[in-house]
Amino acid sequence: MASKLVTIIGITGNQGASVAEAFINEPGWKIRGISRDPSKPSSKVWSDRGVEMVGADLDDAEALKTAFKGSNAIFGVTDFWQQMKVPANIKKAQETGRVLNEVAFDGEIEQGKNIVNAAQATADTLDLLVLSVLGDSKKWSHGKITWNYHFEGKWRIVEYLQATYPELYKKTSFFQPAFFMTNLEGGMGPRKGPDGEYVMRQPIDGNKQIPMYHPRQDTGPLVKALITSSPGKNLMGFSSQISFNEIAQIWSKSIGEPVKFVPNTVEDVDKAMPGGHGRELGEMMAYINDPGYFGGEEAVKELNLITPQDLGVTGLSNVREFLKDKKVN
Ligand SMILES: NC(=O)c1ccc[n+]([C@@H]2O[C@H](COP(=O)([O-])OP(=O)(O)OC[C@H]3O[C@@H](n4cnc5c(N)ncnc54)[C@H](OP(=O)(O)O)[C@@H]3O)[C@@H](O)[C@H]2O)c1
Repeated sequence: MASKLVTIIGITGNQGASVAEAFINEPGWKIRGISRDPSKPSSKVWSDRGVEMVGADLDDAEALKTAFKGSNAIFGVTDFWQQMKVPANIKKAQETGRVLNEVAFDGEIEQGKNIVNAAQATADTLDLLVLSVLGDSKKWSHGKITWNYHFEGKWRIVEYLQATYPELYKKTSFFQPAFFMTNLEGGMGPRKGPDGEYVMRQPIDGNKQIPMYHPRQDTGPLVKALITSSPGKNLMGFSSQISFNEIAQIWSKSIGEPVKFVPNTVEDVDKAMPGGHGRELGEMMAYINDPGYFGGEEAVKELNLITPQDLGVTGLSNVREFLKDKKVN
């Protein structure tokens, strides 16, 4: 029997690499990976393991169509944060007087549309498209959250797909990645304050449970379960939940010093990280606080969101295990 082909965007990044790892030894499947630079070391890691690496930029609609040719399954992901660094976007924001986040939002949506259009062009062989997306934070917060562009833009891609290609939409499942637990190692980890005490600050209730997962370890099993199941699913991609108060307690044990969580405000985060990044992250935290990372009960019901357990996926990462024995960088 001929092998099926899964084409993976973002194979040199967290989510795509995890999907490739899940399929690399799977009988009956071969992998095509997409990168802007198929000869760089993080691409070569995959070609050395037998993956067909193809060069394509998400801004290049025609190159994507060629790269998708013959695919039976496609994993698509877009990168908002990359858009915030693109020099042309920074220049555009300066010249037009628009905020950079809005320009990045438009850029991410355009790339998502290119993925969807290219998937439509390969409809003759395609059985299943999985898109990594996030929720419509403006809708589920009832208009309160307006600066969570990296969530909202990804949902605009879903709306475009549904409105433009109803048949392709029926062949699609959506993967909503939870909060990366790896965020807690970097800038979101404990920091020593002026009084010498370790502190963590975010604009969120310290007891709010936050769904988390490990992007490099858990995306693969979850997306593979979507690809090998029937389409039409909308998955909350989380492996465990935890609050910042509990995170502070675990950090405290790991480093042997007190760590406290002190809630702050979106304005505080904006001041600490000016230029749009801070407000974006602050409003994301406010959204996670209310109505919740996946949009709360209303979204779960209306979108029929499912859990990894509903898909029969077990053995995912545990955030408490992940944090245990970590040291502050
Ligand atoms: N941090 C969180 O807690 C969290 C939670 C949920 C969702 N997310 C979302 O996750 C996304 C990032 O995903 P990730 O962490 O898996 O990615 P990542 O590790 O940051 O890597 C980005 C990937 O995207 C590819 N890429 C970027 N721009 C591209 C372009 N123009 N053309 C082709 N490929 C391009 C890169 O490939 P090459 O460089 O090889 O071309 C790379 O493989 C963001 O949109 C973010 O909003 C983050």
